[in-house]
Amino acid sequence: MTDIPLFTPFQLRGVTFPNRIMLAPMCQYQAIDGVPNAWHRAHHGRYATSGVGSVVVEATGISPEGRISPGCTGLYNDAQVAAWREVTDLYRAQGIPVFVQINHAGAKASTKRPWDGAGPLDPQGSGPAWQTFAPSALPAREGWHTPQALDAAGIEGVIRDFAAAARRAIEAGFDGVEIHGAHGYLLHEFMSPYSNRRTDDYGGPVENRMRLPVEVARAVRAALPDDMPLLYRASCVDGEGGGLTLYDTVALSHALRAEGVDMIDASGGGIPAGMRLTQQKPEPGFQVPFAERIRQDTGLPTVAVGMISDPELANSIVAEGKADLVALARGMLSDPAWPYHAAQKLGHPEPASILPKLYAFYLKLAS
Ligand SMILES: Cc1cc2nc3c(=O)[nH]c(=O)nc-3n(C[C@H](O)[C@H](O)[C@H](O)COP(=O)(O)O)c2cc1C
Repeated sequence: MTDIPLFTPFQLRGVTFPNRIMLAPMCQYQAIDGVPNAWHRAHHGRYATSGVGSVVVEATGISPEGRISPGCTGLYNDAQVAAWREVTDLYRAQGIPVFVQINHAGAKASTKRPWDGAGPLDPQGSGPAWQTFAPSALPAREGWHTPQALDAAGIEGVIRDFAAAARRAIEAGFDGVEIHGAHGYLLHEFMSPYSNRRTDDYGGPVENRMRLPVEVARAVRAALPDDMPLLYRASCVDGEGGGLTLYDTVALSHALRAEGVDMIDASGGGIPAGMRLTQQKPEPGFQVPFAERIRQDTGLPTVAVGMISDPELANSIVAEGKADLVALARGMLSDPAWPYHAAQKLGHPEPASILPKLYAFYLKLAS
């Protein structure tokens, strides 16, 4: 036991997080037909033995057309459920809560993998493109696919697909789900005035722009048992040039709380028209103020994310009540033993105790 804030446990509904370090969701672009495979088991094996306190697995399509790229995972058929089960088993064996980020990629679907340029799929070489959907028929960027604006039946279908993916997540052994409402994908596209130009009940004032995210949260909550946490990742702002504001995101968070969302994962950006998040090079912890503000204004627990790879910074964010958890992506890619090294650096009395028993036994012998 320790009183170092980063290494204290945390509880959400029926789930205990052994510490405050979360592995942020990271697309792997390695699936075939949405089915995770040996790559995913190897990737998650690195983290199941890492001492991390919780995990959110990558943006996973609620439907084939909701995937970002042809290499993205899905949760819309039984083969995907069975393959995810092999990943969740890795974490369950180590007592690490594991969540899946369920996503519809909207106008940013049907794209190439990042290392192939991340542009729209074309029939030559990169595989056939598919029809994309969005709040309005606006390409995400110049030259990208023109999406179809979702009609009432399409909106109903998206809500149904999110709920069905949540049910499959339970079957696959996840401890809960995170709804992806960030990074320029469908739910963020509804929130952002740049991408949402609708004139019906789903466009205009923030009460209308948040309607689909709130309806999705309601349907997903209804699909989950009471003891399972529901997380929501929001892009809190579009950027310095306007668009979605923190005021909108606080309003959304209040509404999500009323629907039974348990924690907001506070990210930012992703609508290309929103330009850069900030004109300056981002500083470590640059998105922490979003998590802090939402936590203060709504009373909801929050996750801070974005350039938090210094253990002292991570610990201070939790200690100062700016967020309940800190999520790391690149810091954990470069050092899967980050939680152990952070425990050492922060003076944990028994740093190896956060690792699986076998590792702890031998590392203690060495110290
Ligand atoms: C390889 C990679 C894949 C990512 N995939 C996702 C994703 O699937 N969903 C998501 O919300 N964010 C994704 N992100 C963003 C991260 O979750 C995180 O918010 C971002 O990298 C900032 O954190 P960091 O500075 O610790 O890397 C990804 C980042 C990386 C590096």
